[in-house]
Amino acid sequence: MDIATLVSNAQALVAPGKGILAIDESTPTIAKRLASVNVENTEHNRRDYRATLLSTPGLGEHISGAILYDETLRQSAADGRSMVEIMQAQGILPGIKVDAGAKPLAGHEDEKITEGLDGLRDRLQAYHQLGARFAKWRAVITIGDGIPTSACIEANAHALARYAALCQENDIVPIVEPEILMDGGHDLDDCFDVTEATLRSLFAQMYEQGVVLEGAILKASMVISGSECEDRADRVEVAQATVTCLLNAVPAALAGVVFLSGGQGDVEATEHLQAMNALGDFPWPLSFSYGRALQQAALKAWAADPANPQQAQKKLAHRARMNGMAASGQYAASHEQAH
Ligand code: 13P
Repeated sequence: MDIATLVSNAQALVAPGKGILAIDESTPTIAKRLASVNVENTEHNRRDYRATLLSTPGLGEHISGAILYDETLRQSAADGRSMVEIMQAQGILPGIKVDAGAKPLAGHEDEKITEGLDGLRDRLQAYHQLGARFAKWRAVITIGDGIPTSACIEANAHALARYAALCQENDIVPIVEPEILMDGGHDLDDCFDVTEATLRSLFAQMYEQGVVLEGAILKASMVISGSECEDRADRVEVAQATVTCLLNAVPAALAGVVFLSGGQGDVEATEHLQAMNALGDFPWPLSFSYGRALQQAALKAWAADPANPQQAQKKLAHRARMNGMAASGQYAASHEQAH
């Protein structure tokens, strides 16, 4: 384990004004995204779409790393350059999703456990050879009647910690992602309590497994009202609840915190990040690792005219810039119009 490299790559991922582009949708998930814009889910289309995004001129200004799916890490674009070469030319670190998905947790209705630890050491070694320098593992926690149970929280925290230790053994920065789903009618306080319990369990397990926090990143969901909650908290309330929760439960030594968008609108996700960074300085950089909130507009533009990628690239560059500003606390709604 090369701790100096882990720490410097982790710091590069959360460098000032930069965040992560999540384009690691599994094949069934990208199928849904492509279907939403009437594009067929073929390997060719997935490749062209993702090569378009990664080739966006100047993308490296606000994007430090991109998380890929296994297929993409091994692909080359139509011009013959590998996806990894395209990223390296942009100064963007290649990342890889390594979990095998969230499956039903035995004996626990409506709860999930993320699989993928078996054989993970060998896969990490192969991914490092292919150029990956960081990885992601996503656990899914659902808020509902009597759930999450501590059985679900602890099983997922344990798997995340074992994944993180294996990553670091192989010189790959682990991003640990315990996503508390926004689905449901729960309120901000419910989300706060579940997020705090999940993070406390996660960092206890990471301590047990000897994970070096300076070389690891948390991908967090914001403390936010459920999507069907009748009285949804506003931007400032979400920001305050989220940073309070993180300060309670996340060790200061961690390299950084990046957020997922989880179904928030593009601008909403930017506004929440801005509202958090406007609250002051924290022990860790607070940045973004958005999937949908970075891609939505770009995907529509690409589908409208795949032979003309510039429109999609403009949309992505714009959202990356807006979120880069929010990561530095310098975003304002007026910047949207400048586009
Ligand atoms: P969203 O920002 O679309 O939630 O995706 C981020 C991600 O990587 C979820 O695992």
